[in-house]
Order: sequence, then C-alpha cells, then structure tokens
Amino acid sequence: MRILCLASVFGLLGSAVSQPASADAYFSTELPVAKAGLLANIGPSGAKSSGAKSGIVIASPNTVNPNYLFTWVRDSSLVFKVITDQFTLGQDTSLRSQIDNFFTAEAALQQVSNPSGLVTTGGLAEPKFNIDGTAFTGPWGRPQRDGPALRSTALITYANWLLSNGNSTFVTNTLWPVIKLDLDYVSTYWNQSTFDLWEEINSSSFFTTAVQHRALREGSALATRIGQTASVGTYDSQAANILCFLQTYWNPTTGYITANTGGGRSGKDSNTVLASIHTWDINAGCDATTFQPCSDKALSNLKVYVDSFRSVYPINSGINAASAVAVGRYPEDVYFNGNPWYLSTFAVAEQLYDGLLTWQSVGSIQVTTTSLAFFRQFSPSIATGTYTSTSPQYTQLTSAIKTFADGFVEIAAKYTPSNGGIAEQYDKSTGAPLSAADLTWSYASVLTAGASRAGIKPASWGASGLTAPAKCVPNPGPQVSVTFNVQATTQFGENIFVVGSVDVLQNWSPDTALPLSATNYPTWSLTVNLPANTNIQYKYIRKFNGQVTWESDPNNSFNTPATGGFTLNDSWR
Ligand code: NOJ
Ligand code: NOJ
Repeated sequence: MRILCLASVFGLLGSAVSQPASADAYFSTELPVAKAGLLANIGPSGAKSSGAKSGIVIASPNTVNPNYLFTWVRDSSLVFKVITDQFTLGQDTSLRSQIDNFFTAEAALQQVSNPSGLVTTGGLAEPKFNIDGTAFTGPWGRPQRDGPALRSTALITYANWLLSNGNSTFVTNTLWPVIKLDLDYVSTYWNQSTFDLWEEINSSSFFTTAVQHRALREGSALATRIGQTASVGTYDSQAANILCFLQTYWNPTTGYITANTGGGRSGKDSNTVLASIHTWDINAGCDATTFQPCSDKALSNLKVYVDSFRSVYPINSGINAASAVAVGRYPEDVYFNGNPWYLSTFAVAEQLYDGLLTWQSVGSIQVTTTSLAFFRQFSPSIATGTYTSTSPQYTQLTSAIKTFADGFVEIAAKYTPSNGGIAEQYDKSTGAPLSAADLTWSYASVLTAGASRAGIKPASWGASGLTAPAKCVPNPGPQVSVTFNVQATTQFGENIFVVGSVDVLQNWSPDTALPLSATNYPTWSLTVNLPANTNIQYKYIRKFNGQVTWESDPNNSFNTPATGGFTLNDSWR
C-alpha cells in the first residue's frame, strides 16, 4: 500500500521515469507514439520539422545543446528503410508519397556541392546537410561512407517493390540513376578511410563495411533484374572484396568484433550490433560470414558488448550478470559524459528477436565453442551441439533468450517518460532523458525492434550462401579510364605495346608490355583503368621477331584526373 502511494506521488510530481512496463505493454502503447514521433520529423508537413524541405528528415527538433536540426544521410536512410518496409510489406499503404518525397530530396542532395566534394568527386559521403537542402559548411567528421550505402538500401527496397508491382519504367529511368550513383560511390571508395557512424574515428569501421557489402549485393541483383548490367561485374567483385575485409574485424581470441581499425578504444561498440540487425536476412540462417544476428560470432560479440556496460553506468548496479542492462554506444564514450542510448538498447533486443525468428525458421539452435559463453548465460550446463526445435534445450534457451531480449525493452521502457517521447540518451545515474529530444533514429529503433518482436521479416538482400574469398584482393582505389592512341607505321609482323611506371603498365617490363590494337591503322589503341590522381610515366615499344625497340627518351608523362576518362593522342617517337 505504502509503495503504491509513493509511486503515485512520483507520478504526480511528473517524474521522468514512468512505471515499469512489460515489453508487451510497452510496445502496444509506444509503437504508435514512435511512429507519430518519426513522422513529425519529416518535411514538409511534419509537426516538429517546420522549415524542412519536402522529404527531408530532421535528426531531432532540438536546436541547442545539442543542435540536431540538420539532416544526416545515415539517420534519414535508416528512417526511410523503416518506412519503406512498412509500405512494401503492406502494413501502411499511406506512406508512398513520403517515400517519393524522400527520393526527390535525396536525389537533390546528391547534387549539392559540399565540403566533401561534388557528386563525382566524393560529395556523396557528406554526412549532413541543412534542412533546406543546402550544404552544411562548418567543420565536421567527414567523409562518412556509410551514407550512400544506407540510402541505396532504402531505395532498392522501394525499387524491388515497384518492379513486383509493374512499374519498371519508373525504376529504370528515375530511381536507378540515383541508386547507381551511390553504388558506384561504394564500389569505388569502400576501402578508403571513413569517419565511423558516431562521427569520431577516422579509420575503417565495421558498420560501414557491413552496410556497404549489403548495398553492393542487392544493387547488383537490382541492376541485373532491370537489365542495367554494365556495372554488375564490378559490384560483384568489390562485394567479394568487402566481404573478405569484413572478416578481419573479428577477434577470435577475445570473441568480439573490433568496431574500428583506429581510435585506440576497446572496440566494443553498438556499431557491431547495429550492423548485424541492419544486415539481417532470414534466408541466410545463422551464417557467420555476414555476422547474422544468430551467428555464433554475433552472439559472442553481443555478450561481450553488453557486459562492458554492467559496471560503467550506476543505473546498472545491482542487476545480475545474466539480465538485461542499459547499454550505450561504447563503454569509453564521453559525449554528454557518456550515457546509455535508447537506440543501442533497442538494438540488443532486436538482434535477439531477429535471432529467435531465424532459429525458428532454421528449426534448430547450434551452440559452438564461439557461442558457448553466450548460451551459458541462459543454461549454465549447455554443451556445444545442435538442438532441434523439438528438444527441451531449444525450448528452454529460446524462452530464456526471449525474456532476456524483453529485458532490454523493459529497461528502455523504465526510462521512457510518460508522454512516450524518446530522446537520444538516458542519464547513466538517474535514467532521465538526455541530449537531443525526439530523436528520429530513436523512434525508428523502437519500430524495428517492435516489428521483429512481432515476427515481421524484412525482404531478403541476398546474404544466403555467401563465402568470403580466402585471400582478400586489395582495393585498387579510385580508377580512371585512359585510352592510349599512338600513330605508328609498322611493317608486317611488327606490333606496338605500351609499358610504364605503374602496376597495370607492368612497371616498365617489356616482356609483359600491353599490346595495342591496330583497328584504325596507323593509329594503335588501348584503353585501360589506371589509378586516379597519379603521375604516370610510359613509353611505347615495338616488337618484331622477338626484337624490342623502345621509343627515344625522355619518358612520356601525364597526370590522371580524379574521375572520368582521359585520352592520349601520341605519335611514335
Ligand atoms: C557530435 C557527434 O554527432 C557525436 O557523435 C559525437 O560524439 C560528438 N559530436 C562529440 O565528438
Ligand atoms: C550523433 C550520432 O553519433 C550520429 O550517429 C548521428 O548521425 C547524429 N548524432 C544525428 O543523429
């Protein structure tokens, strides 16, 4: 009685902390609030986004401490993936005009010259813009190369639905050129360093690599489906290279994914959980190559990541070691003094809900030495092996894991204010909402976790059956197409070759010099890809009866441009 009275007194005082709710109860009230909160942050008519251009997603209406009244390509694309899934899965057919607005807004943003460059010179990785669609020119952690990948994934989901619903002309003529810009960007620049999704570390980043891999796979499939096959070979070969690189983030001795190659932190990071949920493909089962949510690697990683917060947030004290806790971006975080984040908390639940659906579809749970520690949280004596869905172990594990997953939702619920508004963070000591209010991405994270809990499976992206090449091929970096034309009169049986200072030009080796063709004799021609922004030295040589004749000195020399093509018109010297 006394306890109840106290609770109601806190309620009257307007405490930020509402009554604890079960995951069921929480989702039934919070899902509509989250959906409305998300839509309120989209221009032109969202209730909290006045001034935002049509189709522009604001990160949050907050204008001071922090000012998030900007549009981020990452946040917007994740938000529109949720909207597009709801539309294409037939849950809300009213969303189509929002998706069309988003497409138009993003197609315009692609063309805006910005501090990362022009559309053709790297501008696609600019992380954020003003909400009127103009460039943000202040200092920032740029480039962020996850943006083009996430945006193409959202648009590809829409394109696939349109194709299945008889609108291939619009897809081919209107959507495809925009999607292709993003895919070409990913395929060219994936191996260059990037700021991570938290905009702090400039290195390679697991989340970015994982979503880039996904984008090229589904991009290649879409291109094939609409007969735009010119870049398919490049997308496929770069996707294989990315998948190879993705494996290198896994640390077998510590059992987790190191989120960034730089930055000097532990590498335990919500980055990796977000990567797993945003590349979930139920058709891939518990495949570890793509770090599927129920893969042994992703589960081991999840445990290490969650445990890293048990002792860093006061609100976690006293919670036992196998129960859900508040989690944030990474344990070393100092932004706003370092606190739990709602979207990170929902992401843990979502990975587990995705896993539960996948085990159900596979019909068994496999416990390996890699995932043993994860499963022992729920069954201390479980051994490695495969437990089919009819076994008592399967029933026990899935039920305990569901409870564990719901626990993360219940933590978020406990720290959701009674109006249901969701900020970016909640205070590590009091649980009160902190930093940007009404964070659009937070609302999206409620919706995706809730959807997975309700058994909703997003469309497959082609993750099934992939294997990483045994040896990773280093990405050659940006290339330009260069045509060598040389006027040379020759005698019968004599041929012209080119050789020069870079790998493709055989590092001056006449034995392996590249042959030109005399289709337009006496002009001999060859087109090759060479590294962009590079000084190239070269010479033509003649070969006749095994005899090599070099052009006279000095070497020919030119600089390749940043992008596009280049033609050399020479005469034999
Ligand atoms: C703003 C970024 O968005 C946030 O992720 C970062 O932690 C802070 N700046 C501090 O660098
Ligand atoms: C800071 C977060 O670290 C970053 O991921 C996000 O894009 C921006 N805030 C905007 O929400």
